[in-house]
Amino acid sequence: MNQLRQIPFGKPWITTAEREAVLRVLDGDILTHGPQARAFEEEFATFMGAGAHCLTVSSGMAALHLAYWQLGIGPGDEVIVPAQTHVATVHAVEVVGATPVFADCDLTTGNIDPQAVARLVTPRTRAIGVVHYNGIPCDMDAIMAIAGQHELKVVEDCALAVGARFRDKHVGLIGDAAIFSFYPVKHITTGDGGMFASRHADLAAKVSKARAFGVDRSFGEREVPGMYDVPTLGINYRMSDINASIGREQLKRIDAILQARRTNFEALKRLLARVPGTMVLDVDRPEALQSWYCLTVVLEGVSTERRNAVVKALNAAGVGTSIYYPQPVPRLTYYRNKYNNDLALYPNAARISDQSIALPVGPHLQEGDIAYIGAAFERIIKEKL
Ligand SMILES: Cc1ncc(COP(=O)(O)O)c(C=O)c1O
Repeated sequence: MNQLRQIPFGKPWITTAEREAVLRVLDGDILTHGPQARAFEEEFATFMGAGAHCLTVSSGMAALHLAYWQLGIGPGDEVIVPAQTHVATVHAVEVVGATPVFADCDLTTGNIDPQAVARLVTPRTRAIGVVHYNGIPCDMDAIMAIAGQHELKVVEDCALAVGARFRDKHVGLIGDAAIFSFYPVKHITTGDGGMFASRHADLAAKVSKARAFGVDRSFGEREVPGMYDVPTLGINYRMSDINASIGREQLKRIDAILQARRTNFEALKRLLARVPGTMVLDVDRPEALQSWYCLTVVLEGVSTERRNAVVKALNAAGVGTSIYYPQPVPRLTYYRNKYNNDLALYPNAARISDQSIALPVGPHLQEGDIAYIGAAFERIIKEKL
């Protein structure tokens, strides 16, 4: 008899190398914002490619906050954001006092629809916040054209897009600022943590100060220990050297991580192609390479209750799932209460929230898991729909 498998949606890949790296930091004198954090920044910048300035921070949300804040966006400004994203993408706009303006997404990729963006530009628009949805690159040609036409800043949320490329550039190096998240289920983890990235050295220099209280001199730069000045406002969003040491080990394995995700995604996509009434979000453009964060399958013409019944049956069969994201952001209580947007304006975002299931493709999958997930999905869809 087939033993029931237990396949988590995501699982951090922690090895002896990470454990030893953490112990080395603990045995040293500097626990935070020291040589490990700096080395991680340099190595991540090398990984992203020429022109990248990278700064470790305590989370993806912290990086987003720093991006809007240090771009000078604030009260009275509008920022166009996708309706279909993690709430952090939008909270960052809200936290600096600007107004988020929601754009619907494209139903084949889940990415912000550039035509919707173009329609939403007003004299108050200052920036476009894009999200490379589940690792699928946005149409950055179209986004940058709109930004150029109206002199808007572009913030790229690459939380799920480590390794994704557009026109052979790593995503995050096309707009003005970018962020990555190292939360445990992401491509690489530091526990909690994030990276701010930008191709603008001056913006990166401002963010570097703002993430550490706005002080003018780091620990190593002080002639007299304890002496520094504070010329600008800042906050504490630093990453500890303990976290950074984990990230450095993870980054060494990024090629293997991406290869495993790609192989799993492509194999699972082939299996799901034979299940009628389903559609897998993906991009089919030679200039866009995705990073296979998960496989999002949209069930056509089903109620949320039925989708949830499929989720529960998959989970009962040992297949871990998630939903990216549970509600279009304008439908979340905080945003509904504050802005009362017409929810009919985001039909594609609603379809993805209400009718999709995210399936695992990470390197934690074992031999036979993809075949098992494909067979379980096909059987459950037949039973439940
Ligand atoms: C698209 C997106 N942006 C931002 C974040 C926030 O990242 P963090 O949890 O590191 O703050 C997430 C988290 O999942 C995300 O999915």
